[in-house]
Formats: sequence, structure tokens, C-alpha cells
Amino acid sequence: MKLNRISTVVIIGVVLIAIGVIVGLTANWMPVQASAEAASVDSLFNAMLAIATVVFLIVEGGIIYSIVRFRRKAGDDSDGPPDHGNTALEVTWTAIPAVVVFLLTIYSYKVFSDIQAPQDNETVIGVTGQQFQWTFTYPYEPFADLTPEQNKAAKTSMVSNELHVPSGRPVRVEITSVDVIHGFYVPEFRVKQDAIPGRTTTARFTPTEKGIYTVVCSELCGAGHAQMRNPVLVEDPAEYDAFIANLRSKARLAATDPRRPERGKQLIVQKYPCGSCHTLDDAGLKGIVGPPVNGIATKAQNNVDNRLSRSGVKTAEEYLRLSIVNPSAYLVPGYQDLMPKNFGDPSVMPEDDREAIVNYLLTQK
Ligand code: CUA
Repeated sequence: MKLNRISTVVIIGVVLIAIGVIVGLTANWMPVQASAEAASVDSLFNAMLAIATVVFLIVEGGIIYSIVRFRRKAGDDSDGPPDHGNTALEVTWTAIPAVVVFLLTIYSYKVFSDIQAPQDNETVIGVTGQQFQWTFTYPYEPFADLTPEQNKAAKTSMVSNELHVPSGRPVRVEITSVDVIHGFYVPEFRVKQDAIPGRTTTARFTPTEKGIYTVVCSELCGAGHAQMRNPVLVEDPAEYDAFIANLRSKARLAATDPRRPERGKQLIVQKYPCGSCHTLDDAGLKGIVGPPVNGIATKAQNNVDNRLSRSGVKTAEEYLRLSIVNPSAYLVPGYQDLMPKNFGDPSVMPEDDREAIVNYLLTQK
């Protein structure tokens, strides 16, 4: 009788473990493995799944068996027999899970330390979380022929809202946040790491599968949390290098083309006192002494068309330049001749500054 019961338990145990192993080996619940690290994470997950399957079947099977086997007989209103527990059973069902959890801890730690181990020649990409999007900062090598200021300016342009990574090259991301806690999560890479304000966390992966994936945010960070998704592009190393070269030449242009309109806007806000007299909504200027400059490109064109043709000024650009270097040449009706007369002096306003301001004002239609 006793032997019979033991062999029944052994048979049930073998069957349950067999089911667990089959589930663990055949389950395919994860997205595509797009990084070198994905396989070992999936093996760990499937090992846990196999064990969880056995535990699930024992617990749920035990409940169902007990419901059926110990069901109250019709007409039996007596109390059940008193039960003060079974020490051997309790020790067993505590000891076995403790050993299982301990082994899983060792296994998990091994997988985590393997996939996060530093590698040679890592491509380092900065990741910044912000309500509600990700920004990626790419490595910058200073240009030998640029000044330190130009290199500093160029470096700030090495950013993108797309995460480009080279297939087959180890990548290290250095993650931070400018506001609240976000979570950098690329399911296809099996990489997830919190972005914490005031701290830099790291994660490593080696992309292997070309394609377009999504970096999502895995920490509830506010109303736009669900929209915090940016594309991840796994490219051939050559494509990635071309992307970096393109970013680099744009960064160089931004730093070395001092007449670009964005710089002009910066100048009239930060360097020259235009805002003490003029209003320009686009730049946040609120002065009222001089004529407002909203829509100045269109106004300049109208002035050229209607009144100034005889003065030799033929384009809006020429009119704007003239208004800066010789403001008395034409006064907007209703305003006095109060604009400083020395902006034509390159020691007061260098030509690059003036042209950048003109180029910026030409965007104000
Ligand atoms: Cu950022 Cu959720």
C-alpha cells in the first residue's frame, strides 16, 4: 500500500516535470532576438517558465483534486477531523522552493553579469529621457581645424531622436533623465534600464538583427508615458558610419556657418539690446519704443515695393541691412530716429552677426 502510494507520487512527478520541460522548450512568447544577449535572457526565462509550469500544475492540480476527492457527502453535517499540520510536509514545501529560488538567483546573476560585462571598442551612445521622448547623443571627435568654441558648439549638434546602432558592434548606452524616472526598454534587445535624474545608468547590447524596432518607456512617467516611443534602427556598420558622418557634417556646418538664421535669433536675444525697443514674438522681444518687428520680412518687402525703389534698395534683404547700419535712411511713420547709428561699425556689430540677424529676420514673414 505504502509502496503503491510512493510510486504514484513518483509517476505524477515525472509526468509534471516532463510537461514543464516541454513547455519550457517549446514556448515562443518573446519578440525576435535582435541582440547577441537575447538568447541567454530567453533561456533564463524559459527555465523559469518550465519550473513555474510544474509549480502551477501541482498547486492547481492539488486544489482540483481536493475539491473532488474531499467533497462533502450528501447528508454529512459533521465537522471535519482536527488537523494540526504536518511538519514533514511543511519542511518539504519550504525547502524545495527555497533551493529552486536560490539556484535561479545564481543563474540570473550569471546571465546578467555576462550580458553587462564591458567589451572592447564599445560604441558609447548617450540616452536622455524627458517627458515625453528619448534623445540620443552620438560620439563626437573634435575637428582639428575648428576652434575649441566651434568644437563645443558642434558637439551639441550630435543628437537625434532616432537610435541608430551598428549591427555586430558592442554598444554601451549611458542613460539619464532630465525630469522624472523613465525606463529605457528595447524588447527585441532584451534590454531594460531605468533613466534616473541626476544619475547615469548603463546598459550594454550587441545588435545582431537588422531592422527597425522601438525603444519604449517602461516606467509610468506622466500623461504622455504611452507616447514615449522612439525608433531604433539596427544598421550595417557602413550605414551606421554614414549616419554618423552625416550628423557630423551637419554639426560642423552649424558650428562653422555663423550666418545661419538660428544664430541671428540667438544674437538679437542674447548679445544685442534689440528687445529694449522692439517687439518680436518669435524671439520673445517685448520692447515698445521702436516699431514692432513681427512679420518684418513681409513689411520690408512692401516698403521696398512702395517707397524705397528710388533709394537704390531693391530687396527686403537690402532694406533690412540698411535699417541696421543706417536706420535714419527710412523711418517707419510714427516713430522717432532713436535707433543706434553705430551698428555699421564692425567693431560694434561684426558682419557675420549682422548677416545672421538679417537672415533670421528674413524668416519672419
Ligand atoms: Cu517616460 Cu514613461
